[in-house]
Amino acid sequence: MKCILMNKNTEVLMAEYDSGLGVFTKIYDVYNIDYAPYIIKSFYNGTDVNDTSFRTNLSDWFRGRGIPSWRDKLDLLLHRLDISVSSELLDKSFGLSLSDQYWLKPIDSDILYDDINFFDHDFDYSEFLEASLSRNSKTITKEESLKTPNNTTDGMLKKAWIIEDGTRYLLKGGYKNEVLQPFNEALASEICKRLGFDHVEYTLDTYKDMVVSKCPCFINKDTELITAYQIRNDMKRHDNVEDYEEYIKKLENNGIKDARNKMENMFILDFLIMNEDRHLNNFGIIRNVNTLKWLDVTPIFDNGMALNVDYYSEGEVAISGQGRFFYEEKPFDEIIKVVKDLKRIDINKLKDLPEWFDELLHKYQNITKMSDKRINLLCVLLNRQINKLKSLIENS
Ligand SMILES: Nc1ncnc2c1ncn2[C@@H]1O[C@H](COP(=O)(O)OP(=O)(O)O)[C@@H](O)[C@H]1O
Ligand SMILES: [Mg+2]
Repeated sequence: MKCILMNKNTEVLMAEYDSGLGVFTKIYDVYNIDYAPYIIKSFYNGTDVNDTSFRTNLSDWFRGRGIPSWRDKLDLLLHRLDISVSSELLDKSFGLSLSDQYWLKPIDSDILYDDINFFDHDFDYSEFLEASLSRNSKTITKEESLKTPNNTTDGMLKKAWIIEDGTRYLLKGGYKNEVLQPFNEALASEICKRLGFDHVEYTLDTYKDMVVSKCPCFINKDTELITAYQIRNDMKRHDNVEDYEEYIKKLENNGIKDARNKMENMFILDFLIMNEDRHLNNFGIIRNVNTLKWLDVTPIFDNGMALNVDYYSEGEVAISGQGRFFYEEKPFDEIIKVVKDLKRIDINKLKDLPEWFDELLHKYQNITKMSDKRINLLCVLLNRQINKLKSLIENS
């Protein structure tokens, strides 16, 4: 298919896309490289539009918009959607997403972004939601069910975009049979709210026999998420604190003046809940797609892999204690040292937080079947981190 890669209303390049293979086989022309996905721009050498590495990276980026191969229960989902590979889904809705504004416009079509984008246009999510999150689901019946932004969500957890009162929300379940992730998201939101950190607000909801987290979309028609992975891609890698410092410098140079403060907030949150999953696609920046101006650090999102979620056993307490810091895995006690002024944190705001969490976990216990013992342990862990942070603040 000959098509134009669009960024909202701007033509980026013209290419041949082989939807069977899910790759770009030829690039005819580049019109507006500045409007290309951030990571793609850095692969363009400015002269040869058919440079193999440029084309391969474009294909990889586009394929990466599909549901990843490591999505929990992907086989089952694809079976229910009656398709064989997730890249097939990209053809169904022009590759549109709710996290950015890129799409593929067939060359012989005069369709406009305003006619098709999922921010303005509602989509029928009910069958996808069921196929994705329900334990028992039939194969989908309506072609419409494949025309949704759910074709372009990243990440490991089962998830689905839904619409309520005009707002787009992302619902996320737990991993396999684990039920804790949505509660960790809700806890993270509560901490951020109390400490005044910019964050995506996660609440709890139930879907069939499952507790899920629910958060509103933090992107709108004028913005896109650019992950730290993309931003760091053309920067020298040090595997030490320099990666962080250079990243902050880059954000500041692009006009995000409070980048350091916001990054620190994220690592403070990760310390408190022991979030092990702060990889480079779980934070980034928001850019205006019309002006290309860098607007802000992303509000804190994806905090589910916390409170030892992978290490729980009824009999013993094994504590991981390792977080992510750019390319490194490091103890939380080390990562927190990047925070320059801990005294700005009012730890008293978290005083009754373990009790708050205890109540929340008990409230849904009839659905989650989480044991009292585990609930107690989770609250002990949380309390321990709060106390640790308290003494770090006192001694700083
Ligand atoms: N509220 C949101 N608004 C817009 N995009 C989002 C939102 N939440 C997540 N995303 C996008 O979806 C991807 C997967 O979501 P995430 O919460 O990271 O799930 P997972 O836990 O499976 O990694 C993110 O990397 C981001 O691109
Ligand atoms: Mg994620």
